[in-house]
Amino acid sequence: MSFTVAIDGPAAAGKGTISKAVAAHFGFAHLDTGLLYRAVGAKVLHGADPLVAAQTLEAVDLDGDHLRSPEVAQAASKVAVDPDVRAALVAFQRQFAARDDGAVLDGRDIGTVICPNADVKLFVTASSAKRAQRRLDELNAKGMGLEFAEVLADVEARDKRDSERATAPLKPADDAVLLDTSELSAKEAIAQAIAIVQAAR
Ligand code: C5P
Repeated sequence: MSFTVAIDGPAAAGKGTISKAVAAHFGFAHLDTGLLYRAVGAKVLHGADPLVAAQTLEAVDLDGDHLRSPEVAQAASKVAVDPDVRAALVAFQRQFAARDDGAVLDGRDIGTVICPNADVKLFVTASSAKRAQRRLDELNAKGMGLEFAEVLADVEARDKRDSERATAPLKPADDAVLLDTSELSAKEAIAQAIAIVQAAR
């Protein structure tokens, strides 16, 4: 029997950390759907057509630290406005969600569009300053040498674009549980998320 956990929220809210930990705890597979849009965005930065890039995405395209840069993140949120690009990525995400061993998908529209019948829906948020600081620490730990202002500008520009787009905008599903991680450690946020999933099993 499939069991699907949908985790949505704005940029750098802690979705990735929480999703990985929930998946590891329950033995579920995890799909970071932002990577799909980042991979398309990276190809567009290299001159590809967005729709062709989305239609021809392969597993090998989803790998690499270069996908984590603010530049690629911006390109991702620009291609993510296009309904045709989004449509080209739906089937893969739904197939992943339906796998027998359970699945955690994180993104912007998992609870609203991709998996409206998910068993658990979480909407993870935090203040933009907290999110930018965490993302800065994470990227600079990988040696990227970024400034706070640059990361904050990326996070805020993407939140605005992701929330205001017509197709599959960033918003909590009506039945999502809100988890504000502003004042939580990663450990505390993970414990709360695991408890919410456990209660639904
Ligand atoms: O989650 P992440 O920050 O990696 O996502 C990069 C961008 O991809 C987001 O800013 C958003 O525009 C887009 N995205 C989306 N729908 C998803 C996941 C990501 O539109 N399910």
